[in-house]
Amino acid sequence: MARSVAALGRPAFTRSFQTVPVNGFPGAVGKTPLIYLERLSKETGAKIYGKAEFQNPGGSVKDRAAMGVIENAERLGLLRPGGTVVEGTAGNTGIGLAHVCRAKGYKCVIFMPNTQSQEKIDLLRMLGAEVYPVPAVAYENPANYNHQARDFAKQTENAIWTDQFDNVANAEAHYRSTGPEIWEQTGGKVDGFVCATGTGGTLAGVGRALKEKSDGKTQVWLADPPGSVLHSYISSGGKLTERSGSSITEGIGQGRITSNLGTFIKSIDGSLHIADEKSISMLYNLLDTEGLYLGASSALNVVAAVEQAQKLGPGSTIVTILCDGAYRYQSRIFSKEWLRSKGLEDAIPEHLRRYAVLD
Ligand SMILES: Cc1ncc(COP(=O)(O)O)c(C=O)c1O
Repeated sequence: MARSVAALGRPAFTRSFQTVPVNGFPGAVGKTPLIYLERLSKETGAKIYGKAEFQNPGGSVKDRAAMGVIENAERLGLLRPGGTVVEGTAGNTGIGLAHVCRAKGYKCVIFMPNTQSQEKIDLLRMLGAEVYPVPAVAYENPANYNHQARDFAKQTENAIWTDQFDNVANAEAHYRSTGPEIWEQTGGKVDGFVCATGTGGTLAGVGRALKEKSDGKTQVWLADPPGSVLHSYISSGGKLTERSGSSITEGIGQGRITSNLGTFIKSIDGSLHIADEKSISMLYNLLDTEGLYLGASSALNVVAAVEQAQKLGPGSTIVTILCDGAYRYQSRIFSKEWLRSKGLEDAIPEHLRRYAVLD
């Protein structure tokens, strides 16, 4: 006799979809699936879920932030029809902004360090953005790409600098959308939430929503790659800011407490430091066992979810974020030579090395 899904210890699933049409690109952002990760759940005895943010129409979690900062500027009357949106970004935020700008009829201007790949510059240009690659200098230097973006917006009529790191409309977007979606999709049972931070918008917004909805019961943890100060800051109670090593992950890790993270940092319950070896191994494992083709920050998040599950114990429900797909990084993370150059070839379990198909 066939056993029921409940008897197998799995949650009951239905296939869900938007039952009404949505309005353009902006309407298609959010309401992403929550994916049950079966193998890892079985191994830990917990229920581990990944929020499929790679399914946003621009391909990443940053579509939500892009919508949040633009719609906030519209509400405040800072951005009027035909205006210009300016940001300093080398990654997914620029892609999200470029899409939203096309859909809403704004001009998009992106400043980025000139060390970034031609692929990234080309993609933004294909999405209609005006791109300025500028010398890669430290944040303290006025020529840093973030400051150039701010100054460009100041000098342009009807323009805003979206300022993703310190504009709390970013965290607010996750507080209003991602957090409540996770609460609803788990039926109001989330024992643990953990993810890495770049701007901190996702962790701060989702964390605040889950804390409020659970009366403070959801444990919200930060996960940190090498080279970031946040793990040492949180685990030392706000004193140390040790920064050692570097990471192959992109879009995460931070050298300061951004305003977005600052809205929630006092409520963070713990933090985990995740080595690149573990992230790469998980990236290949998720592909092999779950069929998920994910970027390194998502893999790091899933490693952290497993570690949180081990700490909170069997029976707990843990949620993390699957930020984007591997498509934007595939020439690196599936290249044997590149992995070797980073000392990470041996991090891939022997039986999974066949996935590293590029030389
Ligand atoms: C791939 C990826 N993962 C994670 C993050 C971190 O998200 P947040 O900026 O909300 O902390 C980013 C941010 O740019 C990203 O691009």
